[in-house]
Amino acid sequence: MRRTFQWPAVLSPAAPSQDPHSNETESNGNHPTPSAASRRNRIIFGGDYNPDQWPQTVWDDDIRLMREAHVNTVALAVFSWDRIQPEEHRWDFDWLDLIIDKLGHAGIAVDLASATATAPLWLYEAHPEVLPRDKYGHVVGPGARQSWSPNSPVFREYALTMCRKLAERYGRNPYVTSWHMGNEYGWNNREDYSDDAQRAFRDWCRRTYGSIDALNAAWGTTFWGQEIHDFDQVLIPRYMGADAMVNPGQQLDFERFGNDALLDFYKAERDAIAEICPDKPFTTNFMISTDQCAMDYAQWAHEVDFVSNDHYFHEGTLHLDELSCSDALVDSLALNRPWYVMEHSTSAVQWKPLNARKRKGELTRDALAHIAMGADAINFFQWRASAFGAEAFHSAMLPHAGEDTALFREVCALGKTLDRLADTGLAGSRLQRSDTAILFDAQSQWATRSQTLPSGKLDHWHDVRDWYQAFLNTGMRADVVPLAYDWSGYHTIVLPTVLMLSDADTRRILDFAQAGGTVVIGYATGLVDEHFHVGLGGYPGAGQGLLRSMLGIRGEEFNIIGPQADGDADAIALTAAEAVSDPTNSHTTATSRLWQNVISVTDPHAQTLAFYHGDAADDWDLDGVPAITRNRAGKGIAYFLGCDLDVNDLTTFIRLNLDATSAPPNPDVLHTVRIGDTTAFDFYFARGKQGAKISQVSGEPLVIFRGSPGSNTGSYTLQRNGVLITMRNLTTPCADE
Ligand code: GAL
Repeated sequence: MRRTFQWPAVLSPAAPSQDPHSNETESNGNHPTPSAASRRNRIIFGGDYNPDQWPQTVWDDDIRLMREAHVNTVALAVFSWDRIQPEEHRWDFDWLDLIIDKLGHAGIAVDLASATATAPLWLYEAHPEVLPRDKYGHVVGPGARQSWSPNSPVFREYALTMCRKLAERYGRNPYVTSWHMGNEYGWNNREDYSDDAQRAFRDWCRRTYGSIDALNAAWGTTFWGQEIHDFDQVLIPRYMGADAMVNPGQQLDFERFGNDALLDFYKAERDAIAEICPDKPFTTNFMISTDQCAMDYAQWAHEVDFVSNDHYFHEGTLHLDELSCSDALVDSLALNRPWYVMEHSTSAVQWKPLNARKRKGELTRDALAHIAMGADAINFFQWRASAFGAEAFHSAMLPHAGEDTALFREVCALGKTLDRLADTGLAGSRLQRSDTAILFDAQSQWATRSQTLPSGKLDHWHDVRDWYQAFLNTGMRADVVPLAYDWSGYHTIVLPTVLMLSDADTRRILDFAQAGGTVVIGYATGLVDEHFHVGLGGYPGAGQGLLRSMLGIRGEEFNIIGPQADGDADAIALTAAEAVSDPTNSHTTATSRLWQNVISVTDPHAQTLAFYHGDAADDWDLDGVPAITRNRAGKGIAYFLGCDLDVNDLTTFIRLNLDATSAPPNPDVLHTVRIGDTTAFDFYFARGKQGAKISQVSGEPLVIFRGSPGSNTGSYTLQRNGVLITMRNLTTPCADE
């Protein structure tokens, strides 16, 4: 673990002329760093730049237009291995020298890639063994991206040679201000079933468990007679037949191993560069959005100097809420320091079945929403739309139609806005944290992928997102925090479908409650430990019964419903509960559609807040069974939500039980605050199609996008996708919308 924080510098617009390939050090005076210090307060703006797809005649035009768009940084050479090393013993840096030089002289900094995301064809011809295999044993062919096994020692050697060459050549180049390692590690090689992987997995098991007995105990190999007598017998979970079910403990360890293999690979690449060039910050672009969970970034975030993320929009009304939920996790991974949007899109992508463009205002709104959530860098994939290849129809900053386009004008306006915001001192300020943390655990998300669970529809991440949105619906904002991090300072923690809880984590939760915190445990939380062993004595059995006794309940069975139960009801009603029903309307009920825990209350102090009720409940022998409970736990409170609820019902639950704010907040608005040394920046976004009205805003308006001031001081109207940013002195109290 090496947690550091180093933010990339930005160049001054007109860098001094120099020889960037000189080996002389800065102190010799021949090699001045271009005013980097004075430019640290900028917001980074740019995108992936792929000049190798274009003739050199286009490059000057690119740079002219980048300057027009206020671009100050580009990510370069992400897929350029083949151009840099066209043959094993031939290196061609001339084109890269030239473009870095041109960019640097124009004041555009370079986030230089390690260039290893795609390997050249000559390497595959010479060493076909570097290719990964899928679980059926098929070789994953070259021709796209990341067709290489992170477990291949041969591939690693070639990749590290590339890293060293780049470090030697550009380590002292003042225009290169950060290292962009790989690209979305694991995008196409997350699972590798090659022989190299088999060997590496055996070593991983040896290191993790130490003894074969410990491995057998963890995997529960007495089941189906799978006992292992030697680490050389350990298998990766290759295809075993259409209906075979993989041992979930083994499956989970294979997921962990895959994460660790790529993380080790990243670290080896980083360290190869760092040995030669220790002083520039390293990052790699994470893939965090609520529909993806490739890696356990709670581990990765310790290994980068600044956190960066790629985020692609979800269409529809969820768009802003989803973006903000994903960013809430990124901000926690960054430990609340500024972070980097490495990629998002100006408009449509090309990889969905239907690729809608962004709606009016969404380009600017999304970029400003990332800033509102703590980003100090806004970058797009990619600068110039490709004329050919798999991503030709992906939007870009400069579209096929060229500079005389609405899209390019919006990009330029955005660049100017970001510069203006930076002038006010926004960069470096930090997102104000909420007092509620929704806990996220990538490994629980992997565990919910097991084919062996009571329901194949569990999705921890989506449940986190639903809770996040429900908080926004009440006008509150929650943070999203990795389970593995420190959340003891929050007032409330929510654990939605955190399927796996170790004894130690369960103890942390109990301590938190006993010290006065409020804990909300979701319906499929704490069912198994970190080895996928079920906690006994009644559900949820985490922590040898600690979780259950904190809640004061005991579950005997799960009731799983859904449309597959032909002719039976696919929903079960909850009723008579002050926690769920609106007290002004006694007929309001909540509904569960997936999973109900059949529980009884065991602690005399525990209260039942909602019951299952009605014919469908009766059919399943659930009528009158507690659905939502509350218990005192030391100085704190522990809620149990024994069934899945939709966002509306979660919103009602929060409103009735967790909403501690005195002033009614405005659910039409997403409001965040960034706190600087002496200044606070308030960001307001219209969440819905109808736009929003905001009042009593005390700060000075910096940006009013798709909106206008109202007749009363401090009031504003925002249209759909509208944004208001204001600035106030920190002595001025925070506005209430
Ligand atoms: C990302 C990738 C980029 C580009 C982009 C398209 O996953 O890093 O290289 O392919 O998707 O949306």
